[in-house]
Parts: sequence; C-alpha cells; structure tokens
Amino acid sequence: MLVILSIGGSILAKELKPDSFLAYAAALKELSSEHDVIVVTGGGVAARDYISVARSTGSNEVECDYIGIDITRLNAKLLISALGDAAYNAVPHDYKEAEKALSSGKIIVMGGVIPGQTTDAVSAILTEYLNADLLVIATAVDGVYSADPREDPNAAKYETMTAKELVNTVMTTEMKAGSKSPVDPLAAKIIERCEFETIVMDGSNPQDVLEVVIQEGNTTDRKSSIRLGTRIIG
Ligand code: UTP
Repeated sequence: MLVILSIGGSILAKELKPDSFLAYAAALKELSSEHDVIVVTGGGVAARDYISVARSTGSNEVECDYIGIDITRLNAKLLISALGDAAYNAVPHDYKEAEKALSSGKIIVMGGVIPGQTTDAVSAILTEYLNADLLVIATAVDGVYSADPREDPNAAKYETMTAKELVNTVMTTEMKAGSKSPVDPLAAKIIERCEFETIVMDGSNPQDVLEVVIQEGNTTDRKSSIRLGTRIIG
C-alpha cells in the first residue's frame, strides 16, 4: 500500500540530534520493504524559533510561513541523509514533484509547500492526490484530545472519532505561523472532505509507528482502536 507519513518536527528534530533521524530512517527502511512511503517532515522548535525572530524583525505571516517551509525542508534533507541510498535524493517542492518521484521506488521525503498551512495539510492533500491507502500523522501527543492535554488535566483522548468531530475539535486553533495543534484545521477539513483512512499517533518511538502501519496493512478490520493514537473514521 502507499502510506503518507507526517512526522512532526517536534518528534524528529526535538533536540536536533542525529539519533532521532537515524532511528526513523531504520524504521522507514523496514517499512519500505513492504510498502511505498512518502514522508512529510515538520519544522519543530527550530521553525518556531526562526518564525518568532522573523515576526519580531518585521516579517508578515506569509513571510514567516516561507521561513517555516525552509526549516521543514532542512529537516527533510537531514532525514534523506540518514536514509542514504534508500531515499529519493531530492526534496520535492510540490505534490506533482512528489508524484513523479514515486516512480523511483525509493522513500520520498518532503517538507512544506505553500504558506497558510502546516505539513499536516501537505500530507493530507498528498494522501488525496495520490489516492494513498493510509495517512499517519506522527506527533508529540498520543492522539487527539478534547483539549490540549499539556494544559488541561481534564482533557479526554478519543480512541476513534469522525472526521467531522476532528474538524470541530481543531477549528479553534489559531492560524498563525508556528501555531500548535495535533492536526492543523486545514488538514482536518481535507480529511473530512476526502474520507481517507487516518491515524493520529504518538511518534516518539519510530518502532511504534512501524508497528501500527504494518498492522494496518495486514488487517481488514479498520474499525478498532489503535495503540498510542486516535483513528479518524469517515
Ligand atoms: P510544521 O508543519 O512543522 O508545523 O510547519 P507545526 O504544526 O508547528 O508542526 P511540528 O511542530 O513540526 O509538529 C512549521 C511552519 O511552517 C509553515 C507554517 O508557518 C508552519 O507553522 N508552513 C509549513 C507553511 O506555511 N506551509 C507548509 O506547507 C508547511
């Protein structure tokens, strides 16, 4: 199957150390022996820091978004470096370039594409465009909660939720460059519009992501809840 995997920069480049890139590279190589994979990397703390400085020095939100996109692409380059020969050796700058790269048979890694969204939206649009079988959003929380679990102790996790519920949950998120949310509102709307199989999960351990994707590839029952995440159902 074709899997689109969005890896948050907060996971991949939390401290900008080689280990997390190498650990993800190892899991991705394993995954690619059975499935076609396109990875979309986020910008993480570096993107937020650069955006914050740019905003303070006078950049408008679109200019800040372009800076964020640059950082997501730098993280993509680091993951390509860690993947070595297993990776397509360039970062596609849009959806059509990613489509062309698919014929290489290699793991494709890209970052952001246009201002006004995050890499969650890139991965959702890519999933629809390429008719991919599964979208996995690997992030810093173990699924979608009724509120931010880092701020609200009463926040409850959804085991499964409809795309419409996802939209309602994330719609209150601020749309500024560098904003935080488990899934960005545009991505949620795309998931609602296109009704593809989506999992939002804790991506801290790449082996957990690998396990979930392999399980999804092997099962015909996609109604059940999954470990360390939330399943979005149409
Ligand atoms: P991210 O996708 O990393 O945002 O893009 P995020 O939600 O902060 O994700 P984590 O922390 O990595 O999990 C970083 C910033 O880059 C810009 C936006 O400003 C976004 O907040 N960006 C990214 C775009 O404008 N367009 C894109 O296609 C991607």
